[in-house]
Amino acid sequence: MSLLTGQTAIITGAAQGLGRAVALEFGGEGAAVALLDRNAESLQQVRNEIEAKGRLARAYPLDLTDHAAYARTVDEILAWRGAIDILVNNAAIVTFGSILDDTLENWRRTLAVNLEAVYLGCKLVAPHMVRRQSGRIISIASIEALAASGGVGPYNAAKGAIVSYTKSLAVELAPHNVLANAVAPGYMRTPMSIIDGVDETTRPDFVEWYINKGKIPLRRAGLPEDVAGTVIFLASGYCRYMTGQTLVVDGGLTSTF
Ligand SMILES: NC(=O)c1ccc[n+]([C@@H]2O[C@H](COP(=O)([O-])OP(=O)(O)OC[C@H]3O[C@@H](n4cnc5c(N)ncnc54)[C@H](O)[C@@H]3O)[C@@H](O)[C@H]2O)c1
Repeated sequence: MSLLTGQTAIITGAAQGLGRAVALEFGGEGAAVALLDRNAESLQQVRNEIEAKGRLARAYPLDLTDHAAYARTVDEILAWRGAIDILVNNAAIVTFGSILDDTLENWRRTLAVNLEAVYLGCKLVAPHMVRRQSGRIISIASIEALAASGGVGPYNAAKGAIVSYTKSLAVELAPHNVLANAVAPGYMRTPMSIIDGVDETTRPDFVEWYINKGKIPLRRAGLPEDVAGTVIFLASGYCRYMTGQTLVVDGGLTSTF
Protein backbone atom coordinates (compact mmCIF):
# COMPACT_ATOMS: atom_id res chain seq x y z
CA MET A 1 0.00 0.00 0.00
CA SER A 2 1.44 3.38 -0.99
CA LEU A 3 1.13 6.53 1.08
CA LEU A 4 -1.55 8.23 -1.03
CA THR A 5 -3.41 5.31 -2.59
CA GLY A 6 -6.81 6.30 -3.96
CA GLN A 7 -6.47 9.96 -3.05
CA THR A 8 -7.06 12.82 -5.46
CA ALA A 9 -4.68 15.76 -5.37
CA ILE A 10 -4.68 19.15 -7.06
CA ILE A 11 -1.19 20.49 -7.66
CA THR A 12 -0.82 24.02 -8.99
CA GLY A 13 2.25 25.00 -10.97
CA ALA A 14 2.75 21.34 -11.88
CA ALA A 15 4.41 21.87 -15.27
CA GLN A 16 7.97 22.21 -13.96
CA GLY A 17 10.21 22.58 -10.95
CA LEU A 18 8.84 21.68 -7.53
CA GLY A 19 5.25 21.22 -8.73
CA ARG A 20 6.37 18.68 -11.30
CA ALA A 21 8.41 16.76 -8.70
CA VAL A 22 5.47 16.76 -6.28
CA ALA A 23 3.14 15.55 -9.04
CA LEU A 24 5.47 12.69 -10.05
CA GLU A 25 5.99 11.58 -6.45
CA PHE A 26 2.29 11.88 -5.61
CA GLY A 27 1.55 9.70 -8.64
CA GLY A 28 4.18 7.23 -7.46
CA GLU A 29 2.44 7.08 -4.07
CA GLY A 30 -0.84 6.13 -5.72
CA ALA A 31 -2.63 9.49 -5.90
CA ALA A 32 -4.67 10.58 -8.92
CA VAL A 33 -3.16 13.92 -9.79
CA ALA A 34 -4.87 16.97 -11.25
CA LEU A 35 -2.12 19.04 -12.79
CA LEU A 36 -2.79 22.78 -13.03
CA ASP A 37 -0.51 25.23 -14.82
CA ARG A 38 -0.61 27.88 -17.54
CA ASN A 39 2.10 26.06 -19.51
CA ALA A 40 -0.07 23.54 -21.39
CA GLU A 41 2.73 21.82 -23.29
CA SER A 42 4.95 21.01 -20.29
CA LEU A 43 1.87 20.08 -18.29
CA GLN A 44 0.98 17.44 -20.87
CA GLN A 45 4.51 16.02 -20.65
CA VAL A 46 4.17 15.64 -16.87
CA ARG A 47 0.81 13.93 -17.39
CA ASN A 48 2.41 11.56 -19.89
CA GLU A 49 5.25 10.77 -17.46
CA ILE A 50 2.78 9.87 -14.71
CA GLU A 51 0.53 7.82 -17.00
CA ALA A 52 3.56 5.98 -18.39
CA LYS A 53 4.00 4.57 -14.89
CA GLY A 54 0.42 3.32 -14.90
CA ARG A 55 -0.83 6.10 -12.62
CA LEU A 56 -3.72 8.52 -13.01
CA ALA A 57 -3.23 12.14 -14.05
CA ARG A 58 -5.08 14.85 -15.92
CA ALA A 59 -3.77 18.14 -17.21
CA TYR A 60 -5.77 21.34 -16.71
CA PRO A 61 -4.11 24.27 -18.47
CA LEU A 62 -5.26 27.59 -17.01
CA ASP A 63 -4.13 30.89 -15.60
CA LEU A 64 -4.77 30.63 -11.86
CA THR A 65 -5.53 34.35 -11.69
CA ASP A 66 -8.58 33.71 -13.88
CA HIS A 67 -11.08 33.03 -11.13
CA ALA A 68 -13.84 31.69 -13.39
CA ALA A 69 -11.41 29.30 -15.08
CA TYR A 70 -10.15 28.07 -11.70
CA ALA A 71 -13.72 27.44 -10.51
CA ARG A 72 -14.56 25.54 -13.73
CA THR A 73 -11.41 23.45 -13.32
CA VAL A 74 -12.31 22.42 -9.77
CA ASP A 75 -15.76 21.38 -11.04
CA GLU A 76 -14.14 19.32 -13.81
CA ILE A 77 -11.84 17.59 -11.29
CA LEU A 78 -14.81 16.76 -9.10
CA ALA A 79 -16.65 15.38 -12.14
CA TRP A 80 -13.59 13.25 -12.91
CA ARG A 81 -12.92 11.87 -9.42
CA GLY A 82 -15.88 12.77 -7.23
CA ALA A 83 -13.54 13.99 -4.50
CA ILE A 84 -10.56 16.20 -3.81
CA ASP A 85 -8.44 15.04 -0.86
CA ILE A 86 -5.37 17.25 -1.20
CA LEU A 87 -4.71 20.76 -2.50
CA VAL A 88 -1.10 21.77 -3.05
CA ASN A 89 -0.80 25.53 -3.61
CA ASN A 90 2.56 25.63 -5.33
CA ALA A 91 2.44 27.98 -8.34
CA ALA A 92 4.23 31.28 -7.94
CA ILE A 93 6.14 33.89 -9.86
CA VAL A 94 9.09 35.96 -8.76
CA THR A 95 9.45 39.61 -9.74
CA PHE A 96 12.40 41.83 -8.95
CA GLY A 97 12.77 45.37 -7.63
CA SER A 98 13.12 47.21 -4.34
CA ILE A 99 10.60 49.58 -2.73
CA LEU A 100 12.57 52.40 -4.39
CA ASP A 101 12.02 51.22 -7.95
CA ASP A 102 9.18 48.70 -7.75
CA THR A 103 5.70 49.46 -9.09
CA LEU A 104 2.23 48.90 -7.74
CA GLU A 105 1.44 47.00 -10.92
CA ASN A 106 4.30 44.62 -10.17
CA TRP A 107 3.08 44.19 -6.59
CA ARG A 108 -0.44 43.36 -7.76
CA ARG A 109 0.75 40.98 -10.49
CA THR A 110 2.88 39.05 -7.98
CA LEU A 111 0.26 38.96 -5.24
CA ALA A 112 -2.40 37.82 -7.72
CA VAL A 113 -0.55 34.56 -8.36
CA ASN A 114 1.39 34.04 -5.14
CA LEU A 115 -1.35 34.88 -2.65
CA GLU A 116 -4.75 35.53 -4.21
CA ALA A 117 -4.68 32.27 -6.20
CA VAL A 118 -3.79 30.45 -2.97
CA TYR A 119 -6.83 32.00 -1.30
CA LEU A 120 -9.01 31.16 -4.28
CA GLY A 121 -7.88 27.53 -4.39
CA CYS A 122 -8.72 27.18 -0.69
CA LYS A 123 -12.04 28.97 -1.19
CA LEU A 124 -13.01 26.58 -3.98
CA VAL A 125 -11.85 23.36 -2.34
CA ALA A 126 -12.41 23.86 1.41
CA PRO A 127 -16.24 23.61 1.33
CA HIS A 128 -15.93 20.29 -0.46
CA MET A 129 -13.37 19.01 2.10
CA VAL A 130 -15.60 20.19 4.94
CA ARG A 131 -18.56 18.27 3.50
CA ARG A 132 -16.41 15.14 3.47
CA GLN A 133 -14.88 15.96 6.88
CA SER A 134 -11.46 15.23 5.46
CA GLY A 135 -8.73 17.05 3.57
CA ARG A 136 -5.23 18.45 3.40
CA ILE A 137 -4.15 21.88 2.20
CA ILE A 138 -0.43 22.32 1.69
CA SER A 139 0.93 25.66 0.54
CA ILE A 140 4.44 26.37 -0.62
CA ALA A 141 5.95 29.40 1.10
CA SER A 142 9.68 30.18 1.11
CA ILE A 143 12.43 31.05 3.55
CA GLU A 144 11.79 34.56 2.15
CA ALA A 145 8.80 34.50 4.53
CA LEU A 146 11.22 34.31 7.46
CA ALA A 147 14.17 36.43 6.35
CA ALA A 148 14.52 38.73 3.35
CA SER A 149 17.18 38.65 0.67
CA GLY A 150 15.98 42.05 -0.57
CA GLY A 151 14.77 43.01 -4.03
CA VAL A 152 11.76 40.68 -4.05
CA GLY A 153 9.38 42.52 -1.72
CA PRO A 154 6.03 41.45 -3.23
CA TYR A 155 7.18 37.81 -3.43
CA ASN A 156 8.40 38.03 0.15
CA ALA A 157 5.14 39.60 1.37
CA ALA A 158 3.07 36.89 -0.31
CA LYS A 159 5.17 34.12 1.22
CA GLY A 160 4.92 35.67 4.69
CA ALA A 161 1.16 35.87 4.22
CA ILE A 162 1.04 32.18 3.30
CA VAL A 163 2.66 31.31 6.65
CA SER A 164 0.09 33.32 8.61
CA TYR A 165 -2.86 32.39 6.40
CA THR A 166 -1.98 28.72 6.88
CA LYS A 167 -2.49 29.18 10.63
CA SER A 168 -5.85 30.81 9.98
CA LEU A 169 -6.93 27.95 7.71
CA ALA A 170 -5.74 25.44 10.31
CA VAL A 171 -7.84 26.99 13.07
CA GLU A 172 -10.96 27.40 10.92
CA LEU A 173 -10.84 23.96 9.34
CA ALA A 174 -9.59 21.82 12.26
CA PRO A 175 -13.15 21.11 13.48
CA HIS A 176 -13.76 19.51 10.08
CA ASN A 177 -10.68 17.31 10.07
CA VAL A 178 -9.05 19.41 7.35
CA LEU A 179 -5.36 20.05 8.05
CA ALA A 180 -3.45 23.01 6.61
CA ASN A 181 0.32 23.24 6.63
CA ALA A 182 3.01 25.00 4.63
CA VAL A 183 6.51 24.25 3.42
CA ALA A 184 9.24 26.87 3.23
CA PRO A 185 11.98 25.77 0.83
CA GLY A 186 15.40 27.37 0.76
CA TYR A 187 17.43 27.73 -2.42
CA MET A 188 16.22 25.08 -4.83
CA ARG A 189 17.53 24.30 -8.25
CA THR A 190 14.47 24.78 -10.49
CA PRO A 191 13.65 26.91 -13.55
CA MET A 192 12.74 29.69 -11.06
CA SER A 193 16.38 29.89 -9.95
CA ILE A 194 17.47 30.68 -13.53
CA ILE A 195 17.87 34.44 -13.81
CA ASP A 196 19.04 36.02 -17.08
CA GLY A 197 19.85 32.55 -18.37
CA VAL A 198 22.11 31.65 -15.43
CA ASP A 199 21.17 29.28 -12.60
CA GLU A 200 21.68 31.37 -9.45
CA THR A 201 22.76 28.29 -7.52
CA THR A 202 25.77 27.86 -9.82
CA ARG A 203 27.08 31.44 -9.68
CA PRO A 204 30.62 31.68 -8.21
CA ASP A 205 29.52 33.93 -5.32
CA PHE A 206 26.66 31.54 -4.46
CA VAL A 207 28.97 28.54 -4.55
CA GLU A 208 31.61 30.31 -2.44
CA TRP A 209 29.29 31.60 0.28
CA TYR A 210 26.53 29.02 0.51
CA ILE A 211 28.39 25.83 -0.43
CA ASN A 212 32.13 26.22 0.22
CA LYS A 213 31.75 28.36 3.36
CA GLY A 214 28.83 26.26 4.56
CA LYS A 215 26.19 28.99 4.88
CA ILE A 216 23.98 26.13 3.74
CA PRO A 217 25.22 23.56 6.28
CA LEU A 218 24.29 20.64 4.01
CA ARG A 219 26.54 22.33 1.39
CA ARG A 220 24.33 22.08 -1.67
CA ALA A 221 21.32 23.73 -3.23
CA GLY A 222 18.05 21.87 -2.73
CA LEU A 223 16.49 19.75 -5.44
CA PRO A 224 12.74 19.66 -6.08
CA GLU A 225 12.71 16.04 -4.87
CA ASP A 226 14.12 17.15 -1.50
CA VAL A 227 11.03 19.25 -0.93
CA ALA A 228 8.52 16.87 -2.56
CA GLY A 229 9.12 14.29 0.18
CA THR A 230 8.09 16.80 2.83
CA VAL A 231 4.90 17.61 0.89
CA ILE A 232 4.12 13.89 0.71
CA PHE A 233 4.55 13.59 4.48
CA LEU A 234 2.12 16.47 5.04
CA ALA A 235 -0.42 14.87 2.69
CA SER A 236 -0.05 11.39 4.16
CA GLY A 237 -1.53 9.54 7.12
CA TYR A 238 1.77 10.01 8.96
CA CYS A 239 0.82 13.66 9.42
CA ARG A 240 -2.29 13.63 11.56
CA TYR A 241 -1.67 15.79 14.65
CA MET A 242 0.06 18.72 12.99
CA THR A 243 -1.73 21.71 11.51
CA GLY A 244 -0.96 25.39 10.97
CA GLN A 245 2.78 24.70 10.74
CA THR A 246 5.44 25.70 8.25
CA LEU A 247 8.20 23.18 7.70
CA VAL A 248 11.48 24.72 6.61
CA VAL A 249 13.39 22.64 4.05
CA ASP A 250 16.56 24.61 3.41
CA GLY A 251 19.59 22.40 4.09
CA GLY A 252 20.03 24.21 7.42
CA LEU A 253 20.41 27.70 5.89
CA THR A 254 18.16 29.49 8.38
CA SER A 255 19.58 27.52 11.31
CA THR A 256 22.97 29.23 11.13
CA PHE A 257 24.37 32.77 10.81
N1 LIG B 1 13.12 27.69 -6.65
C1 LIG B 1 13.42 28.10 -5.42
O1 LIG B 1 14.57 28.30 -5.05
C2 LIG B 1 12.30 28.30 -4.43
C3 LIG B 1 12.64 28.65 -3.12
C4 LIG B 1 11.65 28.82 -2.17
C5 LIG B 1 10.32 28.65 -2.54
N2 LIG B 1 10.01 28.34 -3.83
C6 LIG B 1 8.59 28.17 -4.13
O2 LIG B 1 8.36 26.86 -4.64
C7 LIG B 1 7.23 26.90 -5.52
C8 LIG B 1 7.61 26.29 -6.84
O3 LIG B 1 8.68 27.04 -7.37
P1 LIG B 1 9.59 26.54 -8.59
O4 LIG B 1 10.97 26.90 -8.25
O5 LIG B 1 9.23 25.15 -8.95
O6 LIG B 1 9.07 27.59 -9.70
P2 LIG B 1 8.95 27.44 -11.27
O7 LIG B 1 8.99 28.84 -11.80
O8 LIG B 1 9.97 26.49 -11.78
O9 LIG B 1 7.51 26.82 -11.47
C9 LIG B 1 6.34 27.55 -11.17
C10 LIG B 1 5.22 27.04 -12.03
O10 LIG B 1 4.05 27.83 -11.74
C11 LIG B 1 3.38 28.13 -12.96
N3 LIG B 1 2.61 29.36 -12.83
C12 LIG B 1 3.07 30.58 -12.50
N4 LIG B 1 2.08 31.47 -12.57
C13 LIG B 1 0.97 30.80 -12.93
C14 LIG B 1 -0.38 31.20 -13.18
N5 LIG B 1 -0.79 32.47 -13.08
N6 LIG B 1 -1.26 30.25 -13.55
C15 LIG B 1 -0.87 28.96 -13.70
N7 LIG B 1 0.38 28.54 -13.49
C16 LIG B 1 1.30 29.45 -13.11
C17 LIG B 1 4.51 28.28 -13.98
O11 LIG B 1 4.03 28.11 -15.31
C18 LIG B 1 5.47 27.18 -13.54
O12 LIG B 1 5.23 25.97 -14.21
C19 LIG B 1 6.82 28.36 -5.62
O13 LIG B 1 5.77 28.62 -4.71
C20 LIG B 1 8.07 29.10 -5.21
O14 LIG B 1 7.79 30.38 -4.72
C21 LIG B 1 10.95 28.16 -4.78
